[in-house]
Amino acid sequence: MVNVWLIYHSKTGTCKQVCEDIASKFKDNYELRADEVKKIKPKDISNNPPDLLIVGSRITFDKPDRTISKFVQKIGKELNSPIEKAATYYTHMTPWDDSKAKMSEILKENNVAKNILPEHLAFKIQDVGKTKGPPEPGQEPKIEEFVKKVQEFISR
Ligand SMILES: Cc1cc2nc3c(=O)[nH]c(=O)nc-3n(C[C@H](O)[C@H](O)[C@H](O)COP(=O)(O)O)c2cc1C
Repeated sequence: MVNVWLIYHSKTGTCKQVCEDIASKFKDNYELRADEVKKIKPKDISNNPPDLLIVGSRITFDKPDRTISKFVQKIGKELNSPIEKAATYYTHMTPWDDSKAKMSEILKENNVAKNILPEHLAFKIQDVGKTKGPPEPGQEPKIEEFVKKVQEFISR
């Protein structure tokens, strides 16, 4: 079975919820593990690399969150050879410029993954003046579409 490892960092639970929604769609035909990066070490991944890594990050100050970015950089330092494939998703509140904020570049620059799915999932929460908000209407189908693209990417 194909191994998928999903890592994320979540402060108020949105990135975690999206992780769980993605994970539930992988459970039948894939071996999937999902972890908050605060609870594991980069070595856990570099010692046992998956076939595909999914990285979920909240956006802070127009960039992927620092905690997960640093974690990904450390994986790159510790891996013997890059992971075959990776995909990325974000949670965000404002319409940030997603052509600039790129976890895929962090993955590439740090030799974490050879092939990165060009499309990412951007899951938007409503701006209610706080860092936690309900999902903007219309976000749920994006998860389904993203999972479909990742699964096609795996089988290529
Ligand atoms: C310090 C800080 C800065 C943020 N900056 C941005 C931003 O630049 N663009 C944006 O869309 N959302 C921004 N947000 C909103 C977060 O993306 C949102 O709180 C997060 O996606 C929720 O995910 P979580 O529940 O997993 O923490 C910011 C939040 C915080 C706390």
